[in-house]
Amino acid sequence: MIEIEEVKARGLPHHVAIIMDGNGRWAEQRGLVRTAGHQAGTQAAERLIRFVGRQLGLKYLTLFAFSVENWNRPPAEVDFLMDLLERFIAEKLQEFIGEGVHLCVSGDMKGLPVRVQETIARAMGETAKNDRLNLNIALNYGSRQEILGACQMIARAVQLGELDLEMLDSDVFSKFLYTKDIPDPDLVIRTSGEMRLSNFLLWQAAYSELYFTDTLWPDFAPEELLDAIASYQERDRRFGAVAEGNVV
Ligand code: FPP
Repeated sequence: MIEIEEVKARGLPHHVAIIMDGNGRWAEQRGLVRTAGHQAGTQAAERLIRFVGRQLGLKYLTLFAFSVENWNRPPAEVDFLMDLLERFIAEKLQEFIGEGVHLCVSGDMKGLPVRVQETIARAMGETAKNDRLNLNIALNYGSRQEILGACQMIARAVQLGELDLEMLDSDVFSKFLYTKDIPDPDLVIRTSGEMRLSNFLLWQAAYSELYFTDTLWPDFAPEELLDAIASYQERDRRFGAVAEGNVV
């Protein structure tokens, strides 16, 4: 197991994004209802946010909390998740304010229950000036929907003469995404042994390093984040170029 000081000394990624998967299986393995897994998953998220903000000093952390596809789950589970996420944001707000956490949300806010929208708007407003840790919660998020939405906004801006089509490049395109104020993730982690991106940050993760672990989300401890970052630090990120010293 790697020590935190060593990980910090090697240089931290700017942005880590996590697909928190396996809450349901965690509960099933214990003979519990699925919602108990989400509760335990919330505690794991809480623990990780504290670790990242207080000890590690990461600048950006994105957590995939609810996808546009998750509406297809049984209504009782969806209601539970909405309540859980709203309560989490409301209950953590004072701590976030005190500890310099800036909360932002990526996703289709208008599709959420009004009370969840209100809690999010309040938390985003009250933490807007914080900059120690930018905590981005992906909520009602789908990457294809995000990209299509950007295309619609761009087409409209071109039609209205507000944007010159010739000026459209990757940087301009990125400004139409939910993540317009957030750097692309350097590292994307997925728990629970599944090896896919599931409509998560498809544009933003173009050059991200990927890390998969069999650990179910409720068991994901801060030490494992250190292992994931250590693995990232050993990789040779070339962004399509060749490694230094390999030029013919
Ligand atoms: C995956 O488990 C997890 C989710 C659907 C997201 C919900 C995440 C939490 C409640 C964690 C807390 C997050 C925050 C931001 C406080 P799953 O139900 O898909 O697991 P399974 O694949 O084993 O069924």
